[in-house]
Amino acid sequence: MVPHAELRKRVADVLPEIVSLRHALHRIPETHFQERETSATIRAFLADSSLEILPPLLQTDTVGLLRGGSDGPCILLRSDIDALPVQERSGAAWSSERPGCAHSCGHDGHMAMLLGTARVLESFSQELAGSVRFVFQPAEEEAAGGKALIEKGLLDIAPRPAAAFALHGWPGMPVGRLSSAAGPSMAAADTFLITVRGRGGHAAFPHLVIDPVLTAARVVTGLQSIVSRSMDPQESVVLSICRIEGGKANNVIPDEVQLEGTTRYFDRSLQGTLREGIRRTVEGVCAASGCTAELVYEEGYVPLVNHQSAVDLARSVVTSCLGPASWFSEHPRTMGAEDFAFYLEKVPGALLRLGLGEEWRPLHSAAFDFNDQSLEPGIVTLSGLALEFCGK
Ligand code: NI
Repeated sequence: MVPHAELRKRVADVLPEIVSLRHALHRIPETHFQERETSATIRAFLADSSLEILPPLLQTDTVGLLRGGSDGPCILLRSDIDALPVQERSGAAWSSERPGCAHSCGHDGHMAMLLGTARVLESFSQELAGSVRFVFQPAEEEAAGGKALIEKGLLDIAPRPAAAFALHGWPGMPVGRLSSAAGPSMAAADTFLITVRGRGGHAAFPHLVIDPVLTAARVVTGLQSIVSRSMDPQESVVLSICRIEGGKANNVIPDEVQLEGTTRYFDRSLQGTLREGIRRTVEGVCAASGCTAELVYEEGYVPLVNHQSAVDLARSVVTSCLGPASWFSEHPRTMGAEDFAFYLEKVPGALLRLGLGEEWRPLHSAAFDFNDQSLEPGIVTLSGLALEFCGK
């Protein structure tokens, strides 16, 4: 049983240091696999702790283990550490010092909460039966970091985790409330690149060219009928074209046009239908106009599926440590993606949303900054999960 009052007191003790640390991390954002200064900051913070820190598996990751006072299961807690190529306009005094790069997804807050959790749990280590694996993971935004760490054997290192949890700050939810739900919660996200090749020439002589611009436009509209005509309307599926590029002058028809986009879905069996539908549409439309086509379809994120037992544990920890009203009952699925999904394919666990405020600025926007008021309930929850899971 988690000692709630004592837990909240110890979280309150570390909070001022964690708020400053969050601001320090916010100033030095780094994008995927470039997180060198971020990683150095994390390692410096943990340097005088009793955590056993592993040599990096991918250069910028930090993986540590806190052993409890007696034997028991291992729980994995994960924070992402990368930033986004966004020019920050949050107005915060601790705004990014790096032009064109910012913590617009709040991973600075996630890191600060997990480091605070390490401090708090260290003070409770004698009460832990088992161990806590701390994972500071690079490159979440590229669907690459989590997958790469797992391919490097992260989840096979002894002691192997029996449960895995992560938090993500969530605008649109009241401050400090938490939520999760069993089943698919975030979507799979794949990407595709289409090259439509024709034969360019003078804009005044369309009969002498094979126009890839008109053909690309037909490909765009053709692709929009895959979801509406080939998918069960009860399923949630998205296909978006996000980049179209071709030509350099207003009087020259180019040789080729490129299209790039993404697909989102919850049921992995739909990937084949999407991939095949895109291939058929691109080839058919291009053949009809005399163009040729090339399609590269790449699998990105898998769907994020929370496990019932982990959601039940989280709800019980949140309601007992923070109060019954702190568990937010609404947890709508989102077509956004998250690479914690790769952990949850291997280990039972859950991703929890942590409310940043109902009117909080959206993730990935230039105005975004993490809400410091959400740090305390975040640290209480992560610490409470470990204390409960590794309870004597
Ligand atoms: Ni994020």
